[in-house]
Amino acid sequence: MSVNTCHFSARKSGAMKVQSVRGMNDIFEPSMMLWHRIEETLRRVYGAFGYGEIRTPIVESTSLFSRGVGSDSDIVEKEMYTFLDRNGDSLSLRPEGTASVARAVIEHGLMNENPTLKLYYLGAMFRHERPQKGRYRQFHQYGIELLGVETPQADTEIMSCHHVLYQELKLKDVELRLSSIGCDVCRPKYKALLTAKLIPLESQLPADFQKKIHTNPQRIFDHKDEKIKELASSLPLILDHLCSECQTHFEKVQTGLTNLNVPFTVDPKIVRGIDYYYRTAFEFTSNHLGAQSAVGGGGRYDKLFEELGGKPTPGVGYAGGLERLVMLLEAQDLKLSERVDFFFVCPDEGGFLKAQSICHELRIRSVRADMELQTKSMKAQMKRAGKVNSRFAVIIGSQEVEKGVAVVRNMDTQAQEEISLEKLLAHLMKIKV
Ligand code: HAM
Repeated sequence: MSVNTCHFSARKSGAMKVQSVRGMNDIFEPSMMLWHRIEETLRRVYGAFGYGEIRTPIVESTSLFSRGVGSDSDIVEKEMYTFLDRNGDSLSLRPEGTASVARAVIEHGLMNENPTLKLYYLGAMFRHERPQKGRYRQFHQYGIELLGVETPQADTEIMSCHHVLYQELKLKDVELRLSSIGCDVCRPKYKALLTAKLIPLESQLPADFQKKIHTNPQRIFDHKDEKIKELASSLPLILDHLCSECQTHFEKVQTGLTNLNVPFTVDPKIVRGIDYYYRTAFEFTSNHLGAQSAVGGGGRYDKLFEELGGKPTPGVGYAGGLERLVMLLEAQDLKLSERVDFFFVCPDEGGFLKAQSICHELRIRSVRADMELQTKSMKAQMKRAGKVNSRFAVIIGSQEVEKGVAVVRNMDTQAQEEISLEKLLAHLMKIKV
């Protein structure tokens, strides 16, 4: 993917060049083709699973995220792009999609007539993180939310849908990791137990983690430091402390996945960085993403709607980063070889009008056809035909017009044939891909 790392560059003399903001990328061809293929595939798969699109604003009231995502979360504490607008209202660029979807559903009463609502979204999100491979300040998420269903079957559907998506995209080595983080009954007891175990170890913990011992002790399992990982390995795990309802729910999710042949690994150390999760938590991961191993993450969030002032509404969902999919597919060398079918080459002006009209007829029929729009040498035009990766060059000059033919050259084999101008359009339609 095209990623620009430097954001300022002073010319030796003259004005400072304006460059993109650090961690925010331009996307262009050939990566763009992969973006399109991914977007088309996910719209098709989401459609097949019964999800309809929702688009919410990029800017929301800051309180939506402090209440929804959680004021103790890293996202709200340190990563949001927050500003006062001209009225003095605190607004933020959305760091994720779930809170916005919940807000929109509550605001428009979208569930008044639909006890079950299935929504998907695709769009830019913003987090002020330290940029690195796979981690940006503006990135794009695709995701789905299934609202109104509290059964484990709903959790299974979210995961199986993305299993299908990744298979459709031919993504290799993606693993589903599954856990439960408990509910209002078992989680507080587990947290208290973990806090009690961590207090005597406080002096061995990094300063930035000490506050979390009391607020979010599970984050210890998420720590990147090897020494802390070692220390965490002897701590109690939530899966050994689930209440019976959570335990049953968790088992049924696993049965559902097995029933649909969706492979998974139970990983009791999954910690989601957002506060709204409840019971099921999961991630799709890949070893090919470097430090950022998460292809995407999700889970159940049965208390979020109440947190935002709505009626109690169970929900479960998932979101993944589009840039990470592009990275993985590019690394697999699954670059799209989307090609121009025909490039028209005019050795002189005599063939130009004929070439332009056939090129136009092909485009009307959605065939990828292109041509040079200014006088260039034959050599330069053939070079361009190669550069745009066309399958065929269609050569029409005054000589050809006089003979009533065009020369159609296969750019891969260099074989060429003369086709009468009368039959040219029909012939090209036959040999297009
Ligand atoms: P999340 O785990 O914060 O969950 O983000 C989901 C995915 O977005 C990550 O796994 C990653 O692929 C991508 N992502 C996050 N931050 C960045 C970044 N800075 N640069 C590139 N990609 C990034 C959520 O956002 C939840 N809303 C998911 C969800 C939906 N849960 C329930 N429904």
